[in-house]
Amino acid sequence: MNYHIREPKVPTMSQISLTDIHKQFPGRGKKGGWKALDGVSLEIAAGEIVGLLGPSGCGKSTLLNIVAGLDTTFEGKFSIQGKSLTEQIGAGFRIAYVFQEARLMPWRTLRQNIEFVLEAADFARTEWPGRIDKVLSLVELSKFADFYPLQLSGGMQQRASIARAFAIEPDILLMDEPFSALDELTARRLRESLLHIWSAFRSTILFVSHNAFESTYLGDRVYIMSPGPGGRIKEQINLTHIPRPRSYEDSALFEQSKRVVESLRRHMGELVE
Ligand SMILES: Nc1ncnc2c1ncn2[C@@H]1O[C@H](COP(=O)(O)OP(=O)(O)O)[C@@H](O)[C@H]1O
Ligand SMILES: [Mg+2]
Repeated sequence: MNYHIREPKVPTMSQISLTDIHKQFPGRGKKGGWKALDGVSLEIAAGEIVGLLGPSGCGKSTLLNIVAGLDTTFEGKFSIQGKSLTEQIGAGFRIAYVFQEARLMPWRTLRQNIEFVLEAADFARTEWPGRIDKVLSLVELSKFADFYPLQLSGGMQQRASIARAFAIEPDILLMDEPFSALDELTARRLRESLLHIWSAFRSTILFVSHNAFESTYLGDRVYIMSPGPGGRIKEQINLTHIPRPRSYEDSALFEQSKRVVESLRRHMGELVE
């Protein structure tokens, strides 16, 4: 098959820029509320794959929701290539979100699930079949286009949700623990599928994971966050020196994932600095 494989984007300027983000959830009654984020700053270049790791409740999903534009009640500066998210979306910028569960509509086939997002994103109807064939083929689900989600395994449903996310050719793909509900072998295949489809689209990916090895396998960089209340970014680990396509057997991956675990433990207070 002949796909147009995009050249890697040169990470010159940052695409996603968050500066000193504070987020407080309102409290009930007389309680003062809950500080979810306490001064988070990060920069992500176009086409980068960046992981967010940290203990439960440290504000990872809150951060993703801010980038998705689902949460607009925060303090600090958030811009996409120097403009607000609203301006960028008005100019055709697209964001997709993948969750732990596939969240496909069970009464629609895979094809119809993807058509739904293509319609919402205003793609011309004539483009739909080509886009659907391309993404389903990239995640090896071509034969299942006319199946309903419940006729497929959990891993296949999650692959379909990744295909659906890429169908709109998102500028940014957000993923919140996308593989944590799957057994390890299925998760491995899905991570490979993800990187394969990403290599055709080169969307910027910001993902949340609890798995140090997964983050190392996927990421160009990972950010380590401290426990809440008031999650902050404590450290970033660069992984760009591990060549792609990556192999699960690469010993550099094990070395780096050990660093990630050590960093997590240090910021949890388990290891003395
Ligand atoms: N809608 C909400 N209202 C009140 N508190 C919230 C809300 N959403 C999240 N929180 C709190 O904010 C903190 C960060 O949540 P979250 O971003 O979901 O953490 P993580 O994804 O890192 O596990 C948690 O303590 C959580 O209980
Ligand atoms: Mg979460």
